[in-house]
Amino acid sequence: MSEHRTTLTQYLLDQQQKHGGGKATGDFSGLINAITTAIKVISNQVNKGALIGALGNYGGGGDSVNVQGEVQKKLDVMSNDAIINECQGSGHLAGMASEEMEEIYSIPAGLKRGKYLLVFDPLDGSSNIDVNISVGTIFSVLRAPEGKENPTMEDFLQPGTQQVAAGFAVYGPSTMLVMTTGHGVDGFTLDRDIGAFILTHPKMSIPADTKEFAINASNSRFWEPPVKRYVDECLQGKTGPRGTDFNMRWIASMVAETYRILTRGGVFMYPRDTKDPSKPGRLRLLYEGNPISFIIEQAGGRSITGTQRIMEVEPTGLHQRIAVIFGSKNEVDLIERYHSDHAQGLDREFKSPLFNTRTLFSAE
Ligand code: AHG
Ligand code: MN
Ligand code: MN
Repeated sequence: MSEHRTTLTQYLLDQQQKHGGGKATGDFSGLINAITTAIKVISNQVNKGALIGALGNYGGGGDSVNVQGEVQKKLDVMSNDAIINECQGSGHLAGMASEEMEEIYSIPAGLKRGKYLLVFDPLDGSSNIDVNISVGTIFSVLRAPEGKENPTMEDFLQPGTQQVAAGFAVYGPSTMLVMTTGHGVDGFTLDRDIGAFILTHPKMSIPADTKEFAINASNSRFWEPPVKRYVDECLQGKTGPRGTDFNMRWIASMVAETYRILTRGGVFMYPRDTKDPSKPGRLRLLYEGNPISFIIEQAGGRSITGTQRIMEVEPTGLHQRIAVIFGSKNEVDLIERYHSDHAQGLDREFKSPLFNTRTLFSAE
C-alpha cells in the first residue's frame, strides 16, 4: 500500500473545514484550483522551452515592451494568457490585474462573476528564461467590494493587509507551489505523473538568524547610507562589527530567492536607490511586494521598505514600485534600525571603508 499523500485539493478541503467557520462556499477553493491549473500549464511551457519555440523576446520584428518599459519575453505573454484563460471563466473573479497589462482586466460579458480580485506577476524573473534559471508566478487574492460586479482600478488599490491569500510557484528543478491564506505557509511539489500538487513542505518557517544576504551589488554606488552600512558590515565578516562571515547570493529571480529564504533563512533586498530618483524601488507593490510579504510574515519573517511594513503601504497605482527588504527577522530588524539611525543622524560616525570616495586630495 502506498503511503498517504495530501494533494492540494484535499488540503483546500481541510483548510475550508478548519477555517471556513461552517459558511465556506467553496468559491475560494475553486479559485485556487483555477490558478493552480494555470500554474501547471505555465510549468509545462517553461519546461518545454525551445521545443515549443517559447524562448526569446515577444513580438517578431521590434521587441514589445510592457507598461513598465521592460522587454516582454514570449513566455511573459504566454503565462499571462494562461492565467486569464484558466481564471476568467472560474466564476469566482470580479476582475484581474497583471504586470503585463497596463489596465485592469474586466471579466468578459456573459461570464459569471465572483467576489474576488486576482493580481499577478505571470512570470517573475523572466530575464532568466533564456539562460535556463528558475522563474516563477506570483499571485495575490483580494476581495472585490461587496456587490460590485464591475470593479474599477481603485478597487484594486488595497494594502497588503487586506489580502485573502497569496502564493507563488517556482519553476525550478521541481515545480513548487507555496501559499498562505493567513494560517501559516505550506509548500507543495508538482507530481507530473499524476498532475497534482502534493503537500511536501507543511508549515514553512524562516529561521530568525542568518548569515546570508541577497542584493544586486552592481547598484551599490546608488544605495542609500543604511543599506551601504548593512552590506559593508556583512562584507567585513569575522573581523568586522558583525563578528561573523556572511555569504551572498543573487539569482535575479525573486521567487527563487524567496524560496531559498523560506527554506534556510536569509535576507533579500531591492532597496530604494538614487539610480532613478523617480522610481521608489524596482519591484512592484501589488503583485510582487505584497504577496511575497504576506508569505514571509506568515512564515515568521519580516518585510519592510526600510522604514515601513510593506503590507501597510497604501497603494496609489496599479504598477507602483516599492523598496523591498525581507527575510530573517533579526536581520530585517537590524536593517530597519540602520534606517532609523540614519533618519535621526545617529550613524554619522559610520564611514564605509568600501564605499567612501577617497581621492589623493581628500580623506573624506
Ligand atoms: P520580472 O521578471 O517580473 O520583471 O521581475 C524581475 C525582478 C525580480 O524577480 C528580481 O529580483 C529582480 O527583478 C532582478 O532585477 P535586476 O535585473 O536588477 O537584478
Ligand atoms: Mn517580477
Ligand atoms: Mn514578470
